[in-house]
This record gives sequence, C-alpha cells and structure tokens, in this order.
Amino acid sequence: MSSFYLTTPIYYASGEPHIGHAYTTILADVIARYRRRAGQDVLFLTGTDEHGQKIQEAAAEQGMSPLELCDLMAGRFEEAWEELGISHDRFIRTTEAEHRAVVAALLERLRDNGLIYEAEYAGWYSVGQERYFTEKEIGPGRVDPIAGGPVRRIREKNWFFRMSRFRQRLIRHIEDNPEWIVPVGRRNEVLGFLDQPLADLSISRPRARIHWGIPLPWDDSQVTYVWVDALTNYLTASGAIDPAAPKGERGFGDLRPSRWPADVHLMGKDILTTHAVYWPTLLMGADLPLPRRILAHGWWVVGDTKMSKSLGNVVDPIGLRERFGADAVRWYLMREMSTGQDASYAPERFLARYDELANVLGNLAHRALSMVRRYRGGCVPGAAAGGLARETEAALAAYRRGLEGYRLHEGFAAAMNLARGANGFVEAREPWALARDPERRGELDRTLATLVRTLAVLAAMFEPVAPTRARKLAARLGLDAVPLFAELDALRVGGLSVTVGTPLFPRAEPVPPTRGADSC
Ligand code: MSP
Repeated sequence: MSSFYLTTPIYYASGEPHIGHAYTTILADVIARYRRRAGQDVLFLTGTDEHGQKIQEAAAEQGMSPLELCDLMAGRFEEAWEELGISHDRFIRTTEAEHRAVVAALLERLRDNGLIYEAEYAGWYSVGQERYFTEKEIGPGRVDPIAGGPVRRIREKNWFFRMSRFRQRLIRHIEDNPEWIVPVGRRNEVLGFLDQPLADLSISRPRARIHWGIPLPWDDSQVTYVWVDALTNYLTASGAIDPAAPKGERGFGDLRPSRWPADVHLMGKDILTTHAVYWPTLLMGADLPLPRRILAHGWWVVGDTKMSKSLGNVVDPIGLRERFGADAVRWYLMREMSTGQDASYAPERFLARYDELANVLGNLAHRALSMVRRYRGGCVPGAAAGGLARETEAALAAYRRGLEGYRLHEGFAAAMNLARGANGFVEAREPWALARDPERRGELDRTLATLVRTLAVLAAMFEPVAPTRARKLAARLGLDAVPLFAELDALRVGGLSVTVGTPLFPRAEPVPPTRGADSC
C-alpha cells in the first residue's frame, strides 16, 4: 500500500480558531479522506505552534503562564477540529519533549555542518508575524507588510544559518520541478523573491527578550527562532529522527525508516516564504530530503477586506456549523474557493452553495429512494444499471484529476454536475410514467438501478467533503459503508434494501416540495 503524508501549518496557540485556520485544515482533511478512499496509508498531521514572543505576550496579557495558555488553546483547536469532522492522525504541540529534542538535534547537525555563526543583528521585527522585515518591506509607514501590524527596531546578538549559500540550489530545484510549488502563480512569486540576494537566517533570539522557546543546544542564553522550531514539527511527526538514539557525528544518527519526506505541505500564501525558502534550505543544510510538494492557498476575505480581529469581521466556522452542520461548512469552503486563489466570504453565497446540496444532491437522493420505495417496495431491482454510465465515468475521472491535482473546486464541481445530470435523467425517463405502463417494467427497473448506482458513486465522491451525509446516504442505500473507489466497478446494487428517511440536507428556508418527488 502506498503511503501519503500531508501536513497543515501548526496554528499559533495565541488566538481562537477562525475560518482561515478551518479552511487549511478542511482542505487537508478532504485530501486525506480522498487518499484513504483511494487506498493509501495516510498520515495527516496538524497541531499548534506554541513558542515565541507572540505566545509569551498573549499569556502575560491574560495573566497565565505560556504553557497554561497553550494547553487551553491546543484544547480549543482540537475541539474545533472535532466539530468540523477533521480526521487528523496526529496533533503535534511544539512544547512536546520529543519535538524539543528533534529541534536541538537538527540545529546541532547544521552547526556540525559548518552552517551556523554568531553575529550582531539590527532589524525591524514584527511580533505578529514573528519575523524580521527589511526597511524596504515595511515601507515609509513602518508596518509589517503582511498584516499591517506594528514592527519594532531591534538590535541584538543572534545565531545565523548560512541560508544564502543555498540560493542557487533552491532556484535549480524549483526550476527542475515545475510542480513542486503549486499553483504556478505562487511558484513564480518564490522565484521572484529568489531573484534578490538571499540573506542568512537568524535562528535564535536572546532569552533575555524571549524566554519562551527551545534553548540552543550550545548556547542556552538563546532560544530557537520560533519559525525554525515550528517548521521542524513536520520532521518530528514523521519519526525520521530518533532523539533518544546516540547522537551521531553530525547532530543526529541515521534516519529511521519514516514518513519523511512529506508528500505535501499545505499552507496559506502568507506563509509561503517560510515554507518554500527557509524550510527547504534548512533541510538542504541538514542533508535531508525536501518535501515533495508545497501547496499555497489563497485568503478568505470579506467583501474585499481582510478578515481581522481588529475589524471585527472574522467569520466563525463553528457558528456556521451550528446552523447548517459541518458538512455544509466544508462544502462551501471547498466549492467556493478556487484552490490557490483568494475568495470572498458572503453569507448569500453560503446559502446558495447549501441550496445546491439540498436541491441537487439531497433532492436526487430523496426522489430516487422514494421511487424505489413506491414502485419496488424499497428493494432495488436486480436489473443492469445501464444509464448514465458514460457520464459517471467522465465525472469520476474529472473528480479524481481535480483532487489529485489540487484543484479541488473542479473535482467537486464534477461531482455536483453528475448529481445534476442524474436529476436530468429522472426528468427524461419519467419513471412515474413508466410505472403506469406494465410493458415498460424492465425500463423502470433499469432506471431505478441506475439511480441507486449513481447515488453510491456520489456517496464515494462526496465522502471526503461531506463525510457525515455521505455515510448517511450510503446507509439509506442499504450499504454497510461508503464504497471505496476500487469497489465501485464491482458494486452490485440489485437487492439492496433502501430507506427514504428525512431529507439529507434539510432546507435552509421553507420552499415548496419538488415536482419529481410529488409526482411519483
Ligand atoms: N504558526 C504559523 C505557522 C507555522 S507552520 C510551521 C502560523 N499560524 S497561524 O495561526 O497564523 O495560521 C496560519 C494558517 O491559517 C495559514 O495557512 C494561513 O494562511 C491561514 N489563514 C489565516 N487567516 C486566513 C484567511 N483569512 N484565509 C485563509 N487562510 C488564512 O502562521
């Protein structure tokens, strides 16, 4: 069985989960569920980023110790993920002992490789982004260019990683592997960034300023820069480095058989540079393989304004879940955003996408199952499911291309189109007319079998995005579980005993009953 290792960023334990975090995590979950259905052995990692000045300051403001705040917030994230149906295999916290030891081992290896030196540093630091910016980046207004927050002038002793040495190698890697950073626009951004000379990376902060971090193994007056600490989580969770093993000559011993390298790191475009420049050069410096792919998605905005706490326009994914259910939130986020581009959150679009679930997929299920009950006593006829075969094949192929090529919106559009096509098939076949004509019994049997088979395929296609309703749909079809893709060809629907039940997606607002359901 092939394996698949995917990661989300680890979220700062200083703020509540919001729709941006939910988006990255749901995106990862959908990919993870898809890969499992395709028969792969998946490791899906998420977690919390718990060190650094941001956490230290947030904890102080709330009168807590940093670890108390992290415990509280890690719990909040875990709860939110549970409520949104996230199926991660591992939730990592950077305060875990194993992670701290892996960070130390990685730093030692970089040092043993001659890539670390000490120097005085002066620059503009943003606590919000936990990084330095250049004079040019902060502009005349002196604000962090990503979120517009304040920057502070800092002069201090830091340890540095010779990142500049890896610029050419990184450019070559990006050029030789056109799909390494997707989508392509983001890849070009990174190449543009690498057009400039690449500075060395400050990898430590004086403990006198920031005490909340992992001490450098060779200088405990300094703690590890939080981005170096955080990025290393991907390696920790892979199991490649055994921190308990005797230290090798260069920081750590042989790599253990593990999940490293990751198949894909997912993140928002705001943290692409750290993932596509800092992280791979650190790995090169430590002689470790690079992740196979980096996917940077766009931002959710409101109207055309950024979501931010200070503007008070942050969308709460849990509030939406309470009203419409987790599957509807997941569907909206995946369907509405072209993977990689920005998208604007709008309540009326949310309702429109919900209606699509109710009126197309929900309606199809309701009509088809009601007809099997009405005309065949709830037992699916054993006839060959002939209709819609080409449409189903084409939809499955487009869907799989979309999900494997990280264009999820296209994959789900193909799934929804299949459901729409199946509703059209009902209109064209007019099963209610066939039912009145005893000579067309066989035709009615084939029509019903086709519809049930199509619904089974749709349950498989929707499971990654709408797991609860897909399972419900499969159960209504009389199946024990949502079929895997490999099981679809051999799936026989004849003899299944269906139940109609209440609508899969109750209508958001009362609307008159559908014509199809009425007339059969
Ligand atoms: N702790 C770092 C990541 C370290 S990974 C080694 C961090 N954390 S974060 O809490 O700020 O969460 C970042 C993730 O949330 C990013 O993927 C970011 O793009 C995503 N989002 C935060 N707000 C967002 C939107 N409004 N829209 C979409 N995603 C955005 O950065």
